Amino acid sequence: MKIIVIGGTGLIGSKIVTKLLASGYEAVAASRSSGVDTVTCRGLAEVLAGASVVIDVSNPPTFDGAAALEFFETSTRNLLSAEAAAGVRHHVALSVVGTERLSESGYMRAKFAQEKLIKDNSIPYSIVHATQFFESIQKLAGLATDGSTVRVPPVLVQPIAGDDVASMLCSVSVDAPLNATIEVAGPEQFRADDLARRRLMARNDSRKVVPDPRARFFGAEVDERSLLPGADARLSQTRFDAWLSRSVERAYGTLRPPREERGGQVGPLM
Ligand SMILES: NC(=O)c1ccc[n+]([C@@H]2O[C@H](COP(=O)([O-])OP(=O)(O)OC[C@H]3O[C@@H](n4cnc5c(N)ncnc54)[C@H](OP(=O)(O)O)[C@@H]3O)[C@@H](O)[C@H]2O)c1
Repeated sequence: MKIIVIGGTGLIGSKIVTKLLASGYEAVAASRSSGVDTVTCRGLAEVLAGASVVIDVSNPPTFDGAAALEFFETSTRNLLSAEAAAGVRHHVALSVVGTERLSESGYMRAKFAQEKLIKDNSIPYSIVHATQFFESIQKLAGLATDGSTVRVPPVLVQPIAGDDVASMLCSVSVDAPLNATIEVAGPEQFRADDLARRRLMARNDSRKVVPDPRARFFGAEVDERSLLPGADARLSQTRFDAWLSRSVERAYGTLRPPREERGGQVGPLM
């Protein structure tokens, strides 16, 4: 089975390619750096020749709403039409838990538009909605930074390890298309400000995380449960503390920072 991973050089895409190859599938990473551009169609027909499945985990270079909408609409249209021509039988896409509730955000509207194009197309599909990745907490803190302060809405989140997202996408992609959306999330809930604080502390980042009920998430107002998955979500195994310890060990070599920097003192809320 030949599986093309659009965005296969990115955070999740590279993990998917590694896992599929390790399981014996013919997986190909496709992105601009490998000569495939889904916006201009460069290299698209060539890479899709003989493919059965396409997993789209691409992301635009900017989170700006208008640019993201242009990216996801153009890229998804091009991709679906090239897939139809190549006889692809399953289109898998990664999106975000709560896109339908976060329409104040330009980026989330762009993801919603991507999903609508997929659902309205005749190619069988599976859409996977994931919660925030552990690996993205640092980047999200960056988007919320004002000087040396990080303003985060103190709402509930249920983040997930990138490795677990990749594993779930791999198993979805080699199964029959769902023609539906499923949700995946991590095993624990946190307050978003607490999570950000623990991530920054583990990196010796001195920015101060302030809970701010008026702070927005990607430009959208969020309430206590806007970012949480529903009751039917598939839950992964990796806990945040275990992931954090491993990521700190990788960053520091064998030198481990004190326990409190690894977030070891504060338990999850639920
Ligand atoms: N971060 C989160 O917490 C989170 C949560 C839920 C869902 N998601 C979704 O997960 C998906 C993947 O996120 P990620 O963090 O893994 O993304 P990422 O690391 O930013 O990777 C994006 C990938 O897209 C490729 N790309 C960009 N423009 C392209 C183009 N014109 N043609 C082909 N490839 C292109 C990039 O490679 P080149 O630069 O080489 O083209 C790269 O491989 C996104 O769709 C996002 O909405 C993210």
